Amino acid sequence: MSIQEETPFYFRQLLSGRDFGINNPIAQQMVNFAYLIGDKDTGECVVVDPAYAVQDLIDIADSDGMRITGVMASHYHPDHVGGNMMGHTIEGVSALLERIQVPIHVNEHEAPWVLKTTGISQNDLCTHSAGDIVKVGQFEIICVHTPGHTPGSQCFLTNGCLISGDTLFLEGCGRTDLPGSNVADMYDSLNTLAQLPDSTVVLPGHQYSAPSAALMSDVKEYNYVFKPKTKEQWLMMFGHD
Ligand SMILES: [Fe+2]
Repeated sequence: MSIQEETPFYFRQLLSGRDFGINNPIAQQMVNFAYLIGDKDTGECVVVDPAYAVQDLIDIADSDGMRITGVMASHYHPDHVGGNMMGHTIEGVSALLERIQVPIHVNEHEAPWVLKTTGISQNDLCTHSAGDIVKVGQFEIICVHTPGHTPGSQCFLTNGCLISGDTLFLEGCGRTDLPGSNVADMYDSLNTLAQLPDSTVVLPGHQYSAPSAALMSDVKEYNYVFKPKTKEQWLMMFGHD
């Protein structure tokens, strides 16, 4: 018998090509993480960045006795919300909305980009400002606005976990040479994340390292993006011409 008390916090980290979209070569190649976050007491959960095989994600939640009540979108790129990428069509939020009617939570600065990439309509979106809170049962998810990779990139902070999207990886950070990127903003966003408690568990948008999660204290110590101590140094190292 376990003496550990069962927590009502529901959390799944799911790897594309392994846990969902299993036979999809793009899903295997891109190694995206989707997340399910919810409250076991109410049976509600949100899905972060559903792409490649949305029915798989619905089925995984269902097999855990959970019902998806919303989508949290970290940013507009097709490997996170669906759309066309490098000649491939990736399934995403538009396919999800054909199956379940749920709000797509996006940052206000990302909304036009998400609409263009996915083809969904403004009515499908629930737009957020920095610091907004989305409730899932008894749990709160804080939307942390982290521009840099894209204008409205957002990370999600809940129950000591930071879902860091393509802003912060365990090694490195998201690219800042793409449409809507801003390398100076990325410096500020990484600094915002670095203020979080050392015990925060960092859960990135891709499996670009052997571990799939790490403590913020370790990420701050080992990730080279935290080496520059001023924006000037940062721009010298990572700035683009
Ligand atoms: Fe991205």
